[in-house]
Amino acid sequence: MSKLFQPLRLPNGEVLRNRIAKAAMEENLADADHAPGEALIRLYRAWAEGGAGLIITGNVMVDRHALTGPAGVVLESDRHLARFAAWADACRSRGAQAWLQINHPGRQLMADLGQPALGPSAVAVNIPGLEKLFAQPRALSEAEIEELIQRYVNTAMLAERAGFSGVQIHAAHGYLFSQFLSPLANRRTDQWGGSLENRARILLRTVAAVRTLVSPQFCVAVKLNSADFQRGGFDADEAAAVVQLLNEQAVDLVELSGGSYESPAMQGQTRDGSSLAREAYFLEFAERIAAVARMPLMVTGGIRRRAVAEQVLQGPVAMLGMATALAVDPALPRRWQSGEDAGVEPIVVAWKNKAFAAAATQSIVKKQLALLSRGKPTRPRTSPLLALLGNQLKTKRQSREYRRWVSR
Ligand SMILES: Cc1cc2nc3c(=O)[nH]c(=O)nc-3n(C[C@H](O)[C@H](O)[C@H](O)COP(=O)(O)O)c2cc1C
Repeated sequence: MSKLFQPLRLPNGEVLRNRIAKAAMEENLADADHAPGEALIRLYRAWAEGGAGLIITGNVMVDRHALTGPAGVVLESDRHLARFAAWADACRSRGAQAWLQINHPGRQLMADLGQPALGPSAVAVNIPGLEKLFAQPRALSEAEIEELIQRYVNTAMLAERAGFSGVQIHAAHGYLFSQFLSPLANRRTDQWGGSLENRARILLRTVAAVRTLVSPQFCVAVKLNSADFQRGGFDADEAAAVVQLLNEQAVDLVELSGGSYESPAMQGQTRDGSSLAREAYFLEFAERIAAVARMPLMVTGGIRRRAVAEQVLQGPVAMLGMATALAVDPALPRRWQSGEDAGVEPIVVAWKNKAFAAAATQSIVKKQLALLSRGKPTRPRTSPLLALLGNQLKTKRQSREYRRWVSR
């Protein structure tokens, strides 16, 4: 039998029924209360029926004042817990595990959302041509860092109460924990900056605090960059060192990705000129990190064909994550299981400006999520320009609605 469909036992004893995960994708489809509503439930039912063994939600915010994008899901109190329970139910309806990804944008906070941006240091995101997209951050105080850790713990505990089977703490892609890990974004000289141990402190403290307050069978996972792909940034050796630090905690899985808004390696594009594999971008990095990791590793990025998925599992990597491919065809795992050799075409936007190309690619994928949320078939062969413009208009409208909601 293909390794793709062999179960995986996690360190806490829980079992994933196969090796395919639907990786996190921010949907921007929350209801008017920034909770999961019908749209998200319909979308996640499609993935549940599609056969992935693990469904990781798009990032859910630990603070209503800090969203990675408009119409994002926020979980900071039990006010709408019944809707989260319905969401968890939809994800788990066909036997998949459902993990809620929890996140805070830190300095990657869109200026249009009208909220103060906070980060490890007052260092703004720097993307040529898109300087005005993100707000200028200020450095968090130590008391605010402690409060933030409590927010992650609170959201994780609420996720367990809602019936999710785990959480994934997002420490990749240039969001808050990834900023702390980065020597470029983190210029602190206190216990939260400087040495790698200090830069990783917020992540490690959060993992430890979550682990002690959820039940042992509740899975705790981390998404980490295998590198930031920026000169002077968090690199592959540091990623291996963070995994070694995580070895000391009861972490059930580490997902490896890479990049950030500044260097969108997760889409196969880097700004420091380093080249990535054409498919399964971070596999080589993951195989190197596997030499030191005690928990199972998952690799995500660029996987859309069965042959590549099989190849990923031939080495020490235990799981593979797919985002784009499952946005285009949520039933890919089920089709592979029934023996089909199906795959999806890559979404390639060959524009010179990599940041704009990355934004257009994201817009095309988000359009597929919106179609699935309305029960419609996907249409990945769409104009990148139209998808980008359409997404920008929608983002503007949703940001206006968000500003009204958050100031109530
Ligand atoms: C529309 C979109 C939204 C995404 N949102 C998230 C997110 O909320 N959290 C996250 O960790 N990664 C997010 N990602 C990154 C994916 O999880 C994944 O790492 C990346 O797309 C590479 O995998 P792929 O080639 O299979 O798409 C997003 C990707 C896309 C395309």
